[in-house]
Parts: sequence; structure tokens; C-alpha cells
Amino acid sequence: MLKKPPGIEDVFPDRITKWNHILNTAADVFSMFNYREIIIPVIEFTEVFARGIGADTDIVSKEMFTFEDRGGRSLTLRPEGTASVVRAYVENGEYNRLSACKFFYRGQMFRAERPQKGRLRQFNQFGAEMFGSGDSYYDYEVILMMDLISRKLNIKDYTLLINSIGCKECREDYIQVLKAYYKPLLGSMCKDCNNRFDKNPLRLLDCKKESCAEPKKDAPDITGYICDNCSNHHYRVMDYLQKSGVAYTEDPRLVRGLDYYTKTTFEFVTDKLGGQNAFAAGGRYDNLVELFGGRATPAVGFASGIERLFLLMDEEAGETGIDYFLIHSGSESLKVITALIPKIISFNLSIDIDPEKTGFKAQFKKANRENAKHALIIGDNEIESGKFIVKDMITGEQKIYDLDKFDHYLKSQIKN
Ligand code: HAM
Repeated sequence: MLKKPPGIEDVFPDRITKWNHILNTAADVFSMFNYREIIIPVIEFTEVFARGIGADTDIVSKEMFTFEDRGGRSLTLRPEGTASVVRAYVENGEYNRLSACKFFYRGQMFRAERPQKGRLRQFNQFGAEMFGSGDSYYDYEVILMMDLISRKLNIKDYTLLINSIGCKECREDYIQVLKAYYKPLLGSMCKDCNNRFDKNPLRLLDCKKESCAEPKKDAPDITGYICDNCSNHHYRVMDYLQKSGVAYTEDPRLVRGLDYYTKTTFEFVTDKLGGQNAFAAGGRYDNLVELFGGRATPAVGFASGIERLFLLMDEEAGETGIDYFLIHSGSESLKVITALIPKIISFNLSIDIDPEKTGFKAQFKKANRENAKHALIIGDNEIESGKFIVKDMITGEQKIYDLDKFDHYLKSQIKN
């Protein structure tokens, strides 16, 4: 038997209703705020991610699926969407000229991480990116969208963590203070943190290893070091959130694992996912467009992992079932009921039928399995008496109607 590689999943039809419910809910919320879909490539030149995410990040240095094409160029399966959207935005001058530009995307991402619950090597994200304004309103807008999506998906018990990691200039001062604090402690810390000390010191705050938890406790917070401009921006975002009733917790240690962030960083976290606590994350990245060769363009965005949302949602979420399961007793009754199908679907009602089974018991069993809201029954007795029966599959209530008034019945259902 052939098998799929580790950390990669098939999504069978029994998961699709819930899966599409997530995607449709996100797309609905994005369109409410005028974000329009962009389809970005699954493969990019490796440079897009190395430059965008940062060569010293875990994602770029350890987790990318990178290979050479036949022409010897280095290509990578996208580990996230932001760098690709920025590349597309800069490469396509048309969009680059618009003032505020809003995109959303969805699709597979690839990271060679150690697979576990909620952590896959091929996973799916939806995300949104806004280009062209440094206004704190937009930080609020992207956070609000994710909060709305979470509530619409009925996700409970989550926390929104928010921080500001300042801009290029003010962060430098903080990094010096942070390095001075960590320098004498490095001997007891992990190998990765010793590397981070030189290459990416902010990430010292992000280490989850036990050996590094103790030193982190007394590390200086960035809050006291960011400049007035960054600080005002941060307070305005929090003010917007507070005024619109979006609960948040300030977390001065929230630095994120991608290098492009400036000012706002945020994560939606829960303790229901085991080792993986974030189901959505993002922030502002005001320097990335310029880094990709575009003109200086502030930007902000976020992405959420569909598999993680899936795990957090109720089992039957999004499950709507079909409107009518058609039940017959074979031969003549099958002909009569089949002739009604075009009429039923012309009212935008969904149906299913089993033409091979003639026993009512087996057909009702199937109606239940297909989550039918109603069973529409026309057996030999009904044909003889010119009637049809509708059973409400939830309450069990049955009603009898005249077959020659079938259209009238359908119209009354639509009104209800
Ligand atoms: P990220 O935090 O790397 O950010 O990923 C965002 C979300 O993708 C995570 O919160 C998680 O739900 C999901 N995710 C990440 N890795 C995995 C995995 N191995 N298995 C399953 N789910 C995963 C970004 O990707 C940024 N591009 C977000 C962003 C957009 N920032 C600004 N704009």
C-alpha cells in the first residue's frame, strides 16, 4: 500500500462541510471589510522567503521544502503567504499605485516541522494583508476580522495577545539592553538561543525550552523602550479594540517567529491545542515592501491555520444536511418521485435518493445518515390516494398533502 508522507493529511468528504464553513465564514468577513481574493503561487524562488521572512528564522533555516528546478534555480514550497503577496504586490505595478490595497488568500502552506496535533507539514491557511497605510485603524481592522471569524465559528475560550515590537530605529536600543541582560546567562541556555543572541536576539524571548524559561522571567520588557510614535500607535490600536469590545491581553514578550514585523504583533491563543497554542497570528510589517524593491509602503495582516480552527470547533459545526431525502417503494412510485426532482431543486432545495433500496426502513436510515431535514415519502399507497407525506426528521412530525398541490407545498415551504 502506498502512503502519504508524515505530517500530510487527506481531507475526506465527511470533513468538507466543516472545512468549507471555515473558508466561507472567513471569505464573508473579508468581503465585509472590502478585502478581495488574490491567488498566489504555491512555489516561489527561495529568495522571496529568505529575504521576506528572514534567513535566520526557524522557518527559513530549518523548515522549508526547497529544491532546484531543471535550470538549477532554487525554488521553495511556500511556508506562508505574506512574502508571496508582497512579491506579487510589488511586481504588479497596477496595484502598487492604489492607495490602500486589501487582499485575502487561502491555500496550502508547507513547513518541515515535527508533526503533532495541530502541527502539520502541509497545512492550510487563510490570511489577509492590507498595503498602503500606517494608520493604527488597519491594525485594529485585521484583528477585528479574526475576532469576528472566531466568534462566527463559535470558538470559545481564546485569548488575543498583543504587543508592539517598535520600529527599526527604536528596537535597536531595546536589543542592546536585551543583549546586555542575556549575555551573562547564555551558558545555561540552549544552543538555538546562543545562536539567536548574535543573529536574532529578539527571538530569545520566544524560546519554549525549559533551560531558557528561567532567564526569560526577568528579561526587560520592550514596552519601556519603544519610541513615542510606536507607543502612540500601540495605544491607539488597543483603544480601538477596547472601545469595540474586543478583549485582549498585552504580552510584552510576543515577538513572533518571522523577521518582518514592526510595531504591532498579535496572536489568538488557546490552551486546547496541546503544544500548539496559536490558531491565528499577524502584525504590521512596514518595511517589507521596500525590502522587496517597492516604494516604502506600510502594511499589516494576519493568517490563521484551518486545521487548528477545525480542531477547536464543535464536531457538527457548519453541518446543514440536505433538505429532502426522497423515499419511494420502487417501480411506479420511483418514477413519480423522480419526476418531482426538477421542481424541488428549482426552489433551491437539496435532495438525495436511493433508487436501489425499496424498503422504507433502509431508506430512513440513509436519510438520517445524510442528515436530511425532511423525508418526502411517496409509496404505492400514496400514489393510489393521490397524496404525499413529509416527515420532519428532527421533530418526527408527519404531514399529508395532496400530490396535485405539490407546487403549492413547495412555495409554502420557501415562504416559511
Ligand atoms: P504564522 O504564525 O507562522 O504567521 O502562522 C499563522 C498561523 O498558521 C498559525 O497561528 C497557525 O494557526 C498556522 N500554522 C502555522 N504553522 C502551522 C503548522 N505547521 N501546522 C498547522 N498550522 C500551522 C504567518 O504565517 C504570517 N504569514 C502571518 C501574517 C500575515 N503576518 C502578517 N500577515
